[in-house]
Amino acid sequence: MMQTHLLLPESDVNAVQIAAGLIKQGEVVGMPTETVYGLAANALDGRAVAKIFHAKGRPQDNPLIVHIADATQLNTLCPAVPPQAARLAEAFWPGPLTLIVPKAACIPEEVCCGLDTVGVRLPAHPLARALIRAAGVPLAAPSANLSGRPSTTTAAHVLRDMDGRIAAVLDGGPCGVGVESTVVTLAQDRPRLLRPGGVTLEQLQGVLGTVELDRALYEKIGDEARVSAPGMKYRHYAPKAPVTVVRGQPQAAAAYIKAHAAPGDGVLCFDEYRDCFSACVVACFGAQADLAAQARAVFDCLRAFDDTAVRQIWAQCPPNDGLGLAVANRIQKAAGFRTVDV
Ligand code: TXA
Ligand code: MG
Repeated sequence: MMQTHLLLPESDVNAVQIAAGLIKQGEVVGMPTETVYGLAANALDGRAVAKIFHAKGRPQDNPLIVHIADATQLNTLCPAVPPQAARLAEAFWPGPLTLIVPKAACIPEEVCCGLDTVGVRLPAHPLARALIRAAGVPLAAPSANLSGRPSTTTAAHVLRDMDGRIAAVLDGGPCGVGVESTVVTLAQDRPRLLRPGGVTLEQLQGVLGTVELDRALYEKIGDEARVSAPGMKYRHYAPKAPVTVVRGQPQAAAAYIKAHAAPGDGVLCFDEYRDCFSACVVACFGAQADLAAQARAVFDCLRAFDDTAVRQIWAQCPPNDGLGLAVANRIQKAAGFRTVDV
């Protein structure tokens, strides 16, 4: 088993250089971004990229996002950038938006898993950009969790899943957004949202006019399915105990959970309902109206249930507006779309 080094840029001025050196040697490093932590390796080195899949236990047909430090790098990864991709990059980069575009020949098979497209993102986190620049290459990076587990929003989460599996983690503190980037494809006839995230659907519509919604946003996709976002078909974000989402007015959802939860069950709820479930293990993920707080906390809350003995988890969930679409999507995916509407 390899030793995983925790690199602390706050106390070690060389932390980014050390991490970049490991990447140049073909190793995998935990990288902070504004969304979630990533498992980064040289995107142009197929053998380094293969180590990411191994560390995560990731299915081989689920492609990776390539991270760049400068918008002009998009041209080296994509031979003909679609005009709508250029407009989105202009509007939202650096930031939590991944653009799926036709891929250039320099990108190894391991990154795109046989697709003729690549996902590209320019992160806003200064340490992510410093690491990409210091490594001198674009970095392939999926979220830094074991496959199927909730994503990681602190270096401690990354170590929890990846200790002994990767060379190092660069500690950038807790992630500011907390849910992964919005994924939109510009490689089809019309722009299509594949995964809601930190850039909202409303913001995309503001630039593009209409945006199609992939059916993976709303339903569970079977293993046999060929989908435009392969990652959407796998069980995701899941704590060990099964999750049931209760959607509807928060008052009514709380009443439903109170009526159905057994003593010792877990409850994920808005801050306002903290005291409603006395015999349960309660995790609050933010005030009802504070979608940004909910996005920052949702994965930490889902992970925290694994340190408890809960056998079942009930979850409140925000409506699909703004950042709520991304938060609700992560909770519904954690539940395998097991939903009660009240
Ligand atoms: O915020 C984020 O996007 C984080 C940070 C680390 O940047 N990364 C992340 O990566 O969430 P990952 O691998 O956990 O999720 C990437 C998603 C998957 O659902 C994958 O299937 C999809 O993007 N994806 C990647 N390349 C694709 C492609 N060429 N076509 C369609 N979907 C793609
Ligand atoms: Mg992921």
